[in-house]
Amino acid sequence: KPSARETAFTPFQLMLLSLMVVQNCAVVLLGRYSQAGVAAEDKFSVKTLVALTEAMKLFACVTLIGIDNIRELNPSRSDSYLPDMPLYRLITLMPSAVGTEISKILANPKNSMAVSPPAALYLFQNNILYLALENLSAPVFQVCYQSKLVTTAIVSVLLLNRKYEKIQWISLVLLGIGVSVVVLGEQDNSEGDGGPKDQNLTVGLIAVGLASLSSAFAGVYFEKVVKGKNSGSNGKPTSLWVRNVELAFFSLVFSFVFGIFSEMFATNSAGDLKSEVPAKPILHGFTATTYALIFLQAGGGLLVAAIVKYIDNVVKGLATGVAVVVSTTFSCLFLGTEVKYQFALGGITILASVWAFSNHEKVAKILRDR
Ligand code: C5P
Repeated sequence: KPSARETAFTPFQLMLLSLMVVQNCAVVLLGRYSQAGVAAEDKFSVKTLVALTEAMKLFACVTLIGIDNIRELNPSRSDSYLPDMPLYRLITLMPSAVGTEISKILANPKNSMAVSPPAALYLFQNNILYLALENLSAPVFQVCYQSKLVTTAIVSVLLLNRKYEKIQWISLVLLGIGVSVVVLGEQDNSEGDGGPKDQNLTVGLIAVGLASLSSAFAGVYFEKVVKGKNSGSNGKPTSLWVRNVELAFFSLVFSFVFGIFSEMFATNSAGDLKSEVPAKPILHGFTATTYALIFLQAGGGLLVAAIVKYIDNVVKGLATGVAVVVSTTFSCLFLGTEVKYQFALGGITILASVWAFSNHEKVAKILRDR
């Protein structure tokens, strides 16, 4: 059984985690900037944004698969990462390189099915999160959703036989509390936007609880798949980018089926079957900032995948905690967000818990020597 050892990250892992902190901050800051002063009717559709992000991720993964395969098809060049290949040659080689990989995927559908459970869970999670947001005020939602730090660790113990020390469990709980304190401090500043009107607290709490469980199971299941020895038709472990394409494929299939069902049973507020509402153009409200957000979110999805493969889901949670501190600091410096004493309190709690989680043996020694 892997034991809970002192966590020393390699430079590559630190680079992934730092990129995730930067990505999280950039999304928060750009998200705020893009919403500032925009009238409700001019806002872009979140559904379109999510769909375009998925499409962008898919495009990026297919390109990465192509690049990997071109290297394989040209072994003489395999030691250089294609820098000397002219762009036109790269583009002309791409279709056959991608095609080869797709035929490998199709030749072994059972191997691809491995990612169908996380795909279904992510879809469930992304939808139930909307239900939670509709029924809870933003601060209550944010605070409750921090529970995923602990649910992820519990599921990692159950599915991956991980072992965490008492200090690490306490650090995770404290991290969640620290993030909650920072978020609550910020919400105080932006009071006035209130919560949605017809809220049902019980429905909201159940929804956020289910989303937290789903996030944990989806993340850890995906981790198990990408770290496992599951191999493709050529006997080699399936690459991370292929796994992402498979994940996107199943997400699309499930969301298509789900979309058909929800359309069939959709009702309007009067309870009648939905009537035709004049639709806005699909890219209504999209600006350069929105496209930048899509780019960043897609990059974020790929970073999540890489962090899950090369580190783990629990450490990913620590990185998002650090991102909350960094983004609030930037927001305060550049967007004029006022911070109160809560930020200092929550920020210190976050950073201390991340440190304690990674250095739990040192903390245990300090506590013993006291
Ligand atoms: O809240 P949580 O950390 O579970 O969210 C993870 C997000 O990362 C989900 O929105 C999921 O769609 C995305 N993801 C991804 N590619 C992966 C794994 C997760 O885009 N391989």
